[in-house]
Amino acid sequence: MTEIQRKHDRAPVPKDWTYEPAPESRDVVKLRERYGLFIGGQWIEPSESYETISPSSEEVLAIVGQGTAKDVDTAVAAARAAFENGWSSLPGSERAKYLFRIARILQERSREFAVLESLNGGKPIKESRDVDLPLAAAHFFYYAGWADKLEYAFPNRRPRPVGVAGQIIPWNFPLLMLSWKIAPALACGNTVVLKPAETTPLTALLFCDVLRQAELPPGVVNIVTGDGRTGAALVEHPGVDKIAFTGSTDVGKAIQRQLAGTGKKLTLELGGKAANIVFDDCALDQAVEGIVNGIYFNQGHVCCAGSRLFAQESIYEPLVEKLKKRLETLRVGDPLDKNTDVGAINSRMQLDRIKELVAAGQEEGAEIYQPPCVLPEKGYWFAPTVFTNVAQSYRIAQEEIFGPVLSVLTFRTPEEAVEKANNTPYGLSAGVWTEKGSRILWMANKLRAGVVWANTFNRFDPTSPFGGYKESGFGREGGLHGLEPYLRFEE
Ligand code: NAI
Ligand code: MG
Repeated sequence: MTEIQRKHDRAPVPKDWTYEPAPESRDVVKLRERYGLFIGGQWIEPSESYETISPSSEEVLAIVGQGTAKDVDTAVAAARAAFENGWSSLPGSERAKYLFRIARILQERSREFAVLESLNGGKPIKESRDVDLPLAAAHFFYYAGWADKLEYAFPNRRPRPVGVAGQIIPWNFPLLMLSWKIAPALACGNTVVLKPAETTPLTALLFCDVLRQAELPPGVVNIVTGDGRTGAALVEHPGVDKIAFTGSTDVGKAIQRQLAGTGKKLTLELGGKAANIVFDDCALDQAVEGIVNGIYFNQGHVCCAGSRLFAQESIYEPLVEKLKKRLETLRVGDPLDKNTDVGAINSRMQLDRIKELVAAGQEEGAEIYQPPCVLPEKGYWFAPTVFTNVAQSYRIAQEEIFGPVLSVLTFRTPEEAVEKANNTPYGLSAGVWTEKGSRILWMANKLRAGVVWANTFNRFDPTSPFGGYKESGFGREGGLHGLEPYLRFEE
């Protein structure tokens, strides 16, 4: 920046434009030393446990339960009892009241939840505060509205609840994924056993407090923490009628194999490798913001992240130049600092995976760019990264990295953009940047992706169905479509 001329000695022009730290206070969160499993409205002492940490400092936050197959069995029995003893036969208008209550309590306690989400998961507080929490509450409000209108949603089809839903969620949007799963399940009259991801159990455990506050009948929602073994026990349990899974494609495939022939309903929301396609007639600066939001939001731990940027050749150079400049302004660091744009990587395991794929990109011949930034010494961190000179066959253009790493490719014509964008085993989302409405519609028809954003990216709304094609899974969450997996239809 050029030196600003001071006219008077006392002119209020700062010499240094860097931000002072602006940390959000942790005091609003009261952590317990240990947490049990939440089954039948009670805290059950776990037989095994493990430490959950903050990925930004590696500090131990609490000790939580590692649910065993026996614990899962107890939880499924509690959910079954609650289903049969009243919940499933409650009028929809009554179920709605509980959902509305939960939504309002989440709004009231949103600061507490946002701080805890950032503490346990590493995401910037401005994201948990402005995205995760408002959307989580919105999902409960939205599905509360459907609870007494199922007959209208599916006219002449006599919708009935399925029974006990087993729900397994990932660590990238812990409370939001919990809301995506629990809200429609309860609206339709089901009961739930939910397993949070092993690295981010704390907001799900705090949510149990919300359930008690809302006086939800015991056993309607049960939370069993633990790792993949706990998840596998839930999938295998014969008393579960429906499995909803969000996570890696590998585990999703294993679950589908396991459930084949059992008659259990299944929805899978798996990985992605979304194309973000930028045409030369778009508003370039707006597109740069969309690209940054598409891949650096939540450290790139987003299944629908715009991880493959397709730039039309005619604007490739100015676009990459603007993008690199913009990257220099991203602030990486303390998730609880309100000025932080990119927080901590969720776990050491995920950091190792990102590093492995980035090394593969360099070996295969791509050119790497990282803006200068000082990463904290403790915790798990990765600088925002852009790869240029990327061929479609490179691992970084094919595999989900799930980190702040963008691969830039190019195209000349709309046909070529479509062909390259669809050259992936995944099909969760895509973005198109152009000023031509007709081109947006033409592209949206041809892109094999569940969601196509036009001149925006990573925009979510509970009223809009979300889900994938191909190896990104099947079934939809959100909107009217999101009710169907939690219903059976009586003839
Ligand atoms: P993961 O699929 O192992 O974990 C997701 C959830 O599944 C967790 O709750 C985990 O405990 C549970 N789980 C693990 N093994 C299971 C099994 N055999 N049966 C039932 N549940 C099981 O994902 P992970 O290992 O955390 O991440 C690996 C990669 O997966 C990431 O690098 C990313 O590419 C992808 N991923 C995609 C997500 C998405 O939103 N689509 C979310 C998380 C990861
Ligand atoms: Mg795994």
